[in-house]
Amino acid sequence: MCGHACAARLGAMSSTDTFQLSLQTAETYEAAFVPSLFAHLAPHLVDAAGVTAGDRVLDVACGTGIVARTAAERAGPAGHVVGLDLNEAMLTVARRIRPDLDWRQGDAASLPFPDGSFDVALCQSGLMFVPDVAASVGEMARVVRPGGRVAAQVWSSLDRQTAIHPLADAVARFAGRDAVDLIGTYFRLGDREEFTGQFTRAGLRVSDVRTLPVTVRAPSVDDYITTEVESTPLVDRISEDVYRRIREEARAGLARYRDATGALVLPLEAYLVAAARG
Ligand SMILES: C[S@@+](CC[C@H](N)C(=O)[O-])C[C@H]1O[C@@H](n2cnc3c(N)ncnc32)[C@H](O)[C@@H]1O
Repeated sequence: MCGHACAARLGAMSSTDTFQLSLQTAETYEAAFVPSLFAHLAPHLVDAAGVTAGDRVLDVACGTGIVARTAAERAGPAGHVVGLDLNEAMLTVARRIRPDLDWRQGDAASLPFPDGSFDVALCQSGLMFVPDVAASVGEMARVVRPGGRVAAQVWSSLDRQTAIHPLADAVARFAGRDAVDLIGTYFRLGDREEFTGQFTRAGLRVSDVRTLPVTVRAPSVDDYITTEVESTPLVDRISEDVYRRIREEARAGLARYRDATGALVLPLEAYLVAAARG
């Protein structure tokens, strides 16, 4: 379990953390993390925002583009889907997979689009990495038309995510400040009420706040640890030796989440907020 010392260390991340990745890490993110987790979340977000045929959709902090691709299926040929991310490596992978969609490099806190350009603005697992969350939600509200929809998914707080504790505890025990900060950042928008308030303060009318039980599936505990480290910025923040120690310690704690075949089935909790511009 994540004790007080661990929670305190993880809670004290800097406000400048981002999700910067190399091209190789971005490719691993797409190959391993997207199918085991983010592809299962994307339909919930697209549904909550009610994306329909012909919609102009913006996917903020799009990463390798799973939400944009999911929205493009709903928006159809009459729609227009734009994915925006700070990280060129993520966008390179996104462009390789769907060269027909519109991929832009940019910052969520300063969107390079005129007011009212979209019907829908979405953000999946991205706002926790943005230093100014209020500015970014405000930008999503600005770029949708009156009556347009804004929806975002983030992770519940770490104290509600027991299944992540074996890995988080191992990182807190063996890794340096940078790595610990990164894990804390994932959960920093875990207070539902506070996060929902970001939407109302941006002048949006909240229509849905939904808790999503999410299951991460990996062929084995070791595959899961590899994915969590090698498809995230964690890989650049720890040495080989620290990686080995984290793996050994997390492996023991995660063993209880194996099913009869040895596959890892890890229960996590996300939530999403959907809102409309008046
Ligand atoms: C965990 S990934 C999520 C990616 C994608 N939404 C998905 O569901 O797979 C977080 C993404 O946020 C992006 N990001 C971080 N800070 C950002 C910012 N200020 N503006 C735009 N994107 C940002 C990162 O580059 C990264 O691609």
